[in-house]
Amino acid sequence: MSAAEHTPHELKTYDPPADMKAHAWVSGMDAYDALCAEAEADHEGFWARQARELLAWKTPFTRTLDESDPPFFKWFEDGTLNASYNCLDRNVAGGLGDKVALVFEADDGSVTRVTYKELLAKTCRMANALKARGVNKGDRVVIYMSMSVEGVVAMQACARIGAPHSVVFGGFSAQSLRDRIEDTGAVMVITADEQQRGGKALPLKAIVDDAIALGGCDAVKDVIVYKRTGGAIAWTPRDHWLHDVTAGAADTCEPEWVGAEHPLFLLYTSGSTGKPKGVQHSTGGYLLHAALTTKWTFDLKADDVFWCTADIGWVTGHTYIAYGPLALGGTEIVFEGVPTYPDAGRFWKMIQDHKVTKFYTAPTAIRSLIKAAEANDKVHPKSYDLTSLKILGSVGEPINPAAWEWYHEHVGGGRCPIVDTFWQTETGGHMITPLPGATPLVPGSCTLPFPGIAAAIVDELGNDVPNGTGGLLVVKKPWPSMIRTIFGDPERFKKSYYPPELKGYYLAGDGSIRDAKTGYFTITGRIDDVLNVSGHRMGTMEIESALVSCTELVAEAAVVGRPDDTTGEAICAFVVLKRARPTGDEAKAIAKQLRDWVGKEIGPIAKPKDIRFGDNLPKTRSGKIMRRLLRDIAKGQKVTQDTSTLENPAILDQLAENN
Ligand code: PRX
Repeated sequence: MSAAEHTPHELKTYDPPADMKAHAWVSGMDAYDALCAEAEADHEGFWARQARELLAWKTPFTRTLDESDPPFFKWFEDGTLNASYNCLDRNVAGGLGDKVALVFEADDGSVTRVTYKELLAKTCRMANALKARGVNKGDRVVIYMSMSVEGVVAMQACARIGAPHSVVFGGFSAQSLRDRIEDTGAVMVITADEQQRGGKALPLKAIVDDAIALGGCDAVKDVIVYKRTGGAIAWTPRDHWLHDVTAGAADTCEPEWVGAEHPLFLLYTSGSTGKPKGVQHSTGGYLLHAALTTKWTFDLKADDVFWCTADIGWVTGHTYIAYGPLALGGTEIVFEGVPTYPDAGRFWKMIQDHKVTKFYTAPTAIRSLIKAAEANDKVHPKSYDLTSLKILGSVGEPINPAAWEWYHEHVGGGRCPIVDTFWQTETGGHMITPLPGATPLVPGSCTLPFPGIAAAIVDELGNDVPNGTGGLLVVKKPWPSMIRTIFGDPERFKKSYYPPELKGYYLAGDGSIRDAKTGYFTITGRIDDVLNVSGHRMGTMEIESALVSCTELVAEAAVVGRPDDTTGEAICAFVVLKRARPTGDEAKAIAKQLRDWVGKEIGPIAKPKDIRFGDNLPKTRSGKIMRRLLRDIAKGQKVTQDTSTLENPAILDQLAENN
């Protein structure tokens, strides 16, 4: 059976390698326990110490945590700093000016190295250009770019002038981009002419044009365009080439010193209801956790080559590309392409070529590369020299033990600890994760909370449940990098994360269980209507709204997730059309039409894998759709649950036969 499949597995424990344990920042479980005990005894004192040791403050903070208006917690509030200063100037001043900060590998394999000195100069030039075009402290800037040096520079430049950025993943559609531009009230969009992925040029600037044409983006005064491919694009008076606006700009720029609570960025993510929410992060608390988790979870050292494969459009790319490694003076890879181009050995070849020491990716990528490697030795990790690797990481979704074992054995050569890091857009950085020189690993478990993170499992009333019993994952105490609010909607922030019955604990939205013996956490999946497809978060309601907005065709739609071997979960849509239920080729054609529609409304990542048509949906007498029954049908299982409240039981057979 393929290791990519989810199989029950004999679980082993893996202790940290002795040499790593000896030299790690957090060395051994005693050191981990001591840090946890320090935080337990004096939560604020623990975080204040880290903030003083890891960040450079322009004005030191005198108060650590303000809890006077929960859940609107403030950290280090009277301190001032600048995130870009911390990531760049500080390292240049510390003697790292000629050290390589970014190793950019383009889709076609060409490599560009950027030193700290160069990255600082580029950032200052872009910051000056933004200021010259009237971007002020507090103005929002939307960044719609693919993986590039310029993407990282754009984020750093915004941070330098105190303009919160909102990066929108390059795979989102014009409609999704428009919604984010409107919600942020952005004054500027930074984009590229096109992006280059998997040997193909794909549009970016044209999508920005479409987004703005949809209306509601009146605050946007300028669109700055990085020339990536030179492909033909339309041009309007609001457009400016990046190389033109930076041409005469000075390569020094005094950082804007901002209060620690000043928003560093907004990042949109899906919730169980309504439109995606703009998660707002702070400057001081966020940057602290980005730096501290990069240091401890990846045990980052001066000679490391760190590679996080995430896109800067997701939170992982923010924390572990744009901020964490740079705050520590690290060297990191920025990869433009896709794992399967020119073949599925691309990751392994890049690890070999760049002598990557710490590698951080998502289980979906691993599972798809397992399948490719099992089919073709040429793209199997054994065909590459991966001996530079020291630590492997996993993020975004549960990693099944079989894939964990394969990753450990074939990529890590049996000698590299795997850090299975649980966290969220809202948490800013790792929450529950092994530390590689301390924590004994159990495949499939994210193990224990990061020191200073009061993670726990409770019932619906916020009472602790004993180990071995599942419940809601909560965080009992505020932490520095926590979400500050949902941009423009503080009530939604409170309602989503701090429901009154949970005693003031942060509700993560995931179920979890702790091992009866070890207390290790395993994440059991979302407790709300949020799906995790290839590590991408999607709200079922968002996809349903997209489907029913196809008003010509669709009368009603319900979306659920079902397990999938490669992508973790797959999107399954049940649709009632305004016309008779189609079958055969006609059903296939309409399903394709609806998939494309969703791709246009949200983006290709939201396209349903399965679409089933029915004359109706299973509903209660009061007209509520019974999604739990649809979940069984989506899995291909017989519905054995209680259907006594179902008004139209015959519909179940119709939906089930419609495979
Ligand atoms: O369900 C959890 C899952 O991903 C969700 C967060 O998604 P997002 O905000 O997009 O951030 C992804 C990158 C941090 C969580 O609520 N998740 C994330 N990491 C893990 C995970 N599930 C299991 N194990 C993980 N290591």
